[in-house]
Amino acid sequence: MPKSTDRLIVGNWKMHGFSAALAEISALATALAAGEPPRCIVVICPPATLLAEASRLGSMAGILTGGQDCHPALSGAHTGDLSAAMLKDAGASYVIVGHSERRADHGETSELVRAKAEAGLTAKLIPIVCVGETLAERDAGRAETIVLDQLDRSLPDDAAGRKVVVAYEPVWAIGTGRTPTDADIAAMHLAIRQYLVTRFGAAGQDLSILYGGSVKPANARTILAIANVDGALVGGASLLASDLTRIISAV
Ligand code: 13P
Repeated sequence: MPKSTDRLIVGNWKMHGFSAALAEISALATALAAGEPPRCIVVICPPATLLAEASRLGSMAGILTGGQDCHPALSGAHTGDLSAAMLKDAGASYVIVGHSERRADHGETSELVRAKAEAGLTAKLIPIVCVGETLAERDAGRAETIVLDQLDRSLPDDAAGRKVVVAYEPVWAIGTGRTPTDADIAAMHLAIRQYLVTRFGAAGQDLSILYGGSVKPANARTILAIANVDGALVGGASLLASDLTRIISAV
């Protein structure tokens, strides 16, 4: 029986892109309009400085946007931070939380990630909750234990109802050009699916699980065909509309 899980291609621009990069959103819109309708939801998560304009450009072409992080509080004296409600106000539909770069650069714990995801839900954004093991953890045979523990502590309890997306991003595959084998991706996504069903019941079947880490036009078709891979979280290859269009058409 086909699952109703949403297929998603999410571009994470990270700390790349000045206003000129908005031309890539227009180019993506043009490319999508020229081809067959995408068989997935398309989301761009630009730097916060570009979010409002990216949302405006995207909305004309059915391209959604997301923030790359949010503060766990709804508002307050938090200099330099952005609340989930502000992202929503700027046009976002999604927010990435717990990306490994934030866990590493800012010491974010899974408990903080969960609070951010809850703030996202409160603001009516869909949190994309990222998890993933380091190479040392994988080499020690602990990848699954680490990922499931991160999920256990990072996912809000009311994640069911397709309100949350999970992104599995092995830290060692991000920006390196290396990816796990298809069998390793399949095994991890199955373990995540089983965890979600155990925790959320039948609703766990409907949560989308994205793979991220060196997804490129050349490997997208293979990765996206793996069971329980419901889409991709794409970094470097999302910066050029031409690459991202090829990944979208691989769905
Ligand atoms: P790359 O696609 O550049 O490996 O980045 C993946 C990622 O971190 C997306 O969030």
